Amino acid sequence: MGIGQEVVERCRKLATHTEEPGFITRTFLSEPMHCVHADLRAWMEQAGMSVHVDAAGNMRGHYGGARADAPKLIVGSHLDTVPHAGAFDGILGVVLGVALVKALDGRRLRFGIEVVGFSEEEGVRFGFPFIGSRALVGSLDDALLARRDAHGVSVADAIRAFALNPAAIGDARVNGLPLGYLEFHIEQGPVLESLNIPLGVVTSIAGQSRLEVKFEGKANHAGTTPMHLRRDALAGAAEWIGAVEREAAAVPSLVATVGKIEAEPGAGNVIAGSVRTSLDVRHTKDEVRAAAVKHLLDAAQQIAARRDLVASSELRLDQAAVAMDARLIEMLGCAARDGGYPEHRMHSGAGHDAMVMAERMPAAMLFLRSPGGISHHPDEAVLESDVVAALATGLHFVHQLERANG
Ligand code: HGY
Ligand code: MN
Ligand code: MN
Repeated sequence: MGIGQEVVERCRKLATHTEEPGFITRTFLSEPMHCVHADLRAWMEQAGMSVHVDAAGNMRGHYGGARADAPKLIVGSHLDTVPHAGAFDGILGVVLGVALVKALDGRRLRFGIEVVGFSEEEGVRFGFPFIGSRALVGSLDDALLARRDAHGVSVADAIRAFALNPAAIGDARVNGLPLGYLEFHIEQGPVLESLNIPLGVVTSIAGQSRLEVKFEGKANHAGTTPMHLRRDALAGAAEWIGAVEREAAAVPSLVATVGKIEAEPGAGNVIAGSVRTSLDVRHTKDEVRAAAVKHLLDAAQQIAARRDLVASSELRLDQAAVAMDARLIEMLGCAARDGGYPEHRMHSGAGHDAMVMAERMPAAMLFLRSPGGISHHPDEAVLESDVVAALATGLHFVHQLERANG
């Protein structure tokens, strides 16, 4: 079996570990994550790595360098998914990291390689993302460990339920200064496919704001309450959601999404008294993103005032845009060309663990083409030939790093 096929088949095997039979849904340290760990541990050990799980639930596979005190390159991505996900977002970067070490075939370099499967990046369960990579850079603090999910379970509780010890979170932190962090990831968009190019070198990652925006009115009888006497929270939220779409479309390169809405009491014959919505705003320029968030929150207040509703919001994430490391970008571009592949540089609209890892070390990302430009969807895919291209580029990158540390 070729390496491209093996990587794709391994991703599809991990995709069978799900909270929802028939779909791919895997949130922070949920039960199926034990099976993901078991498969990954076996593959990592076959590739010659020593493996441990840190207190944040990250899978940590270590392939030593020629010397015990050798510095290390970290290669990683995330193991969790959005609900009803595809089989490659996150997981592909971990499985490709294992394949990269396996391809060294026991050869020891001037540096070690640590392959990390981050426990959580999507932010689905607790409303904030990057739990795994925050542990590695030391920013998973007590306040975040105390955040609770929809069932009142805290991050720390979830860690204990997975038979891990949240008091040991500090041990997950990366020591010293690694040579860098490299993340392989599907593009999750249409650009590479439109250019008919297999790989993209990421230059920067868009900043993102995530908020909960709430509208409160008065629940009442759907049959007896005249239209002019209503304080309908769902009608107010609907008007605002339309404004979000219209006003975001008017700002170049801005994206704003309301992906989740919860109405209470949620019965067809009751006017909604309270509605909670999610707001996700992204742009490569932080000042544009901040202005858009303010504008959309002002719009919520204006609509609420006109409808005798109360609008409120809670900021869940304010993640600045992050530039990838210039030197690693050059090396990755050169590695692609060495492999005979075109070098295409591009920014990322999706958030990634590389944004967090870049706080502590030089970070770089290599995108693989997304057939159909689709992601966060069961139709998400990757081409075996592009996996081969990414692995070849990764090996050229490693050999450049070896020469640079000679
Ligand atoms: O939402 C994102 O940008 C990523 O998929 N976590
Ligand atoms: Mn994702
Ligand atoms: Mn991802």
